[in-house]
Amino acid sequence: MKEVRSSSLLPGNSNNNLYIMKKKLCLSQFKTPLFDTLLAHAKRDVVSFHCPGHKNGRSIDKVLKDYTGDGVYKFDVTVFDEVDSLHDPIGPIRRAQELMAQAYGVKYSFFLVNGTSVGNIAMFLAACDSGDSIIVSRNSHKSVISGIILSGVWPIWIQPKIDQNLDLIFNTTYEQIKDALDKYPEAKGVFITSPTYNGVATGLNKIVNLCHKRNKIVLVDEAHGAHLHFNEQLPESAVETDADLCVQSTHKILSAISQGSVLHFNSKLIEFNRVKKVVSMLQTTSPSYLTLATLDLARRQVFLYGRENFNKIIKIAEYGRSYINNNIQTMKCFTRKEVQKLGFDLDVTKLTINVTKTGLSGYEIEKILAKKYNVQLDYADLFNLVAIMGEGSNKSDVEILVKALESISRKYHGEQKNWILKIPSLATEMVMMPREVFLSNKTKSISLKKAVGHVAAQTLTPYPPGIPIVIPGERITQEIRDYLMDMSAKDIRISGQETEMLKTVKVFTSQ
Ligand SMILES: Cc1ncc(COP(=O)(O)O)c(C=O)c1O
Repeated sequence: MKEVRSSSLLPGNSNNNLYIMKKKLCLSQFKTPLFDTLLAHAKRDVVSFHCPGHKNGRSIDKVLKDYTGDGVYKFDVTVFDEVDSLHDPIGPIRRAQELMAQAYGVKYSFFLVNGTSVGNIAMFLAACDSGDSIIVSRNSHKSVISGIILSGVWPIWIQPKIDQNLDLIFNTTYEQIKDALDKYPEAKGVFITSPTYNGVATGLNKIVNLCHKRNKIVLVDEAHGAHLHFNEQLPESAVETDADLCVQSTHKILSAISQGSVLHFNSKLIEFNRVKKVVSMLQTTSPSYLTLATLDLARRQVFLYGRENFNKIIKIAEYGRSYINNNIQTMKCFTRKEVQKLGFDLDVTKLTINVTKTGLSGYEIEKILAKKYNVQLDYADLFNLVAIMGEGSNKSDVEILVKALESISRKYHGEQKNWILKIPSLATEMVMMPREVFLSNKTKSISLKKAVGHVAAQTLTPYPPGIPIVIPGERITQEIRDYLMDMSAKDIRISGQETEMLKTVKVFTSQ
């Protein structure tokens, strides 16, 4: 359980000064300065001689406009004084960002219009110099690999922990971080993903305290955690620790539209102006004001009603979890208790449904759900389905899902397979910086069979496990080569392969 949070900063505390402070904070959180500005502008039907070319929606294709109505396109404006600039905010964008920072209890919040993907890259470029080393779990999102390549850091990989009972990959533990810091005292800091796609959260507070005691920075990919701060039943959020930078996809669980994310700055170790510059360098000069407005609205919604809304969402998710566990013999959803026993915490709003006993893969069931039952999941792999709930979820959605799964378990049967979730050792030797290899033209494709001992010049990610098994700059071991050949023989999709079947791999050549 967590302690004080802004959404509980509501009247009721006996300390009078604190009460007044909290009341002021709550009152300001009712405001949506950016949305209000854009709405007022849209209502005035201003004659547009600015980009974009559709001119308040006038030339948007009729079929689309008949469906959506035309109001929404009046929010699609460009930078001018009234609506402020994302790159140098002094008006409503600045005020909206300040309210965001206040709601999350951080020093500064940057609005992002290219999702957490751009936030991850920004964290590396803002916090690291070329040649620095950073401790990072191998099961990171692909944008983390991009950040490593673009910033020119040396990654120190942490092997992800696998639980073969749950067919699940966990994230980094405190003990793993401590071991890595002891072994590599030169590391500038750590990069952590928490919670994972499956909602598994690591003990961030302890990790942050350890790192700061050693003067190391902590960067957190909290793409799936923008809601955590607002409900005490959920795992702790990075913003409740002293993590230096943390990025959240406000669009994933809260009600911002796609691409709306936020980078929170809360550091004594990282230079603020550098973060500001990097964020500006990476973002478009034509941001979607509609996306920005929904960030403003999503913040107000979660601050004022997040506790109540997520109490309901937790209830319906738990209903779905128990229904599956009690009524569908061939499917199972792990529980918070099971995850806590393994030393992690769980965001219970996410349902990870293990389907191995059906004899069908997660992919197959995902397809059946979409085609026959009109239900679309966020993700599936060989073993699991992942159902993500958000601000807009309701009980009837969950009822439809569990009834569909129950029906599938009765109607569809596959042959039992002995798939095992495993990965090779990925604590590999980094011979060259990923950036150096990426920018080099001294590369060639060789037969995968002959790849052992060579330095990789590409990223290869089989699904599952969805973890990059080969990264530019690392020496390819026999174990990795054998693993890839095995995956390829089993017809597993390998992202990054340049031919239909994985027969070759790109490596660095010294000539
Ligand atoms: C852990 C994690 N980090 C980062 C991202 C990228 O986030 P976005 O889609 O907001 O760019 C994702 C996307 O799924 C993710 O799962």
